[in-house]
Amino acid sequence: MKHRVSRAIAAAVLASGVVHAAKATLVFTSTITGAPLDLSEAMPEGRDTTAVKTFLDTAVNIYNENASCLPKAKDLYLSMCSGCHGHHAEGKIGPGLNDSYWTYPKNATDQGLFETIFGGAQGQMGPMYGALTLDDMLLVMAWVRHVYKENPADATWLTEAQRKAFEPFDEHNDPTPPLEKAGPCKATAG
Ligand code: HEC
Repeated sequence: MKHRVSRAIAAAVLASGVVHAAKATLVFTSTITGAPLDLSEAMPEGRDTTAVKTFLDTAVNIYNENASCLPKAKDLYLSMCSGCHGHHAEGKIGPGLNDSYWTYPKNATDQGLFETIFGGAQGQMGPMYGALTLDDMLLVMAWVRHVYKENPADATWLTEAQRKAFEPFDEHNDPTPPLEKAGPCKATAG
């Protein structure tokens, strides 16, 4: 009996861990169909970081303009996105991501941007849930936001304080150190 109870508790703990890792307060929907995205399809790693938990509850990306995390964010963008969207997100076979024009207006919000990356859009813009962890998606998003080149006043995805401090990205003067020379990415909520 005792044995069965403890096994049940262990199973419940395990299950709650799994549920927690994929649980979102918000409903995330496909950019193309509008159907809810199944976050349980996310890779097992990188699900329960502070950044992911915060994002799934609030749609706030705490990696935005976090200097300690930008080296990793840039590295991920360059390996996963630049081939189609251009080295500086200026556009190539996929559209530019460094201005305030969006094919899908919801990409002006971080929730929308996440939904497009997680679930994909048309054609070559395939879903990324099998290629990037949730945490890596948030990092890539922070780099997309960082390379924005236009008027900071239109950067509605930033907080007011971030918008005031934001300088349009200049690829000729990018102080982001390469990943191997960077310190750890330190993310804290709030
Ligand atoms: C194999 C090529 C390819 C790769 C790799 C790729 N994309 Fe795309 N992406 C596209 C194409 C093509 C479109 C246009 C699709 C459409 O209009 O539905 C697109 C559209 C988008 C959009 C919508 C833009 C808008 O104006 O609304 C976003 C955001 C985006 N991609 C982000 C990313 C990010 C971030 C990555 C890396 C994690 C990435 N993409 C990787 C080809 C790619």
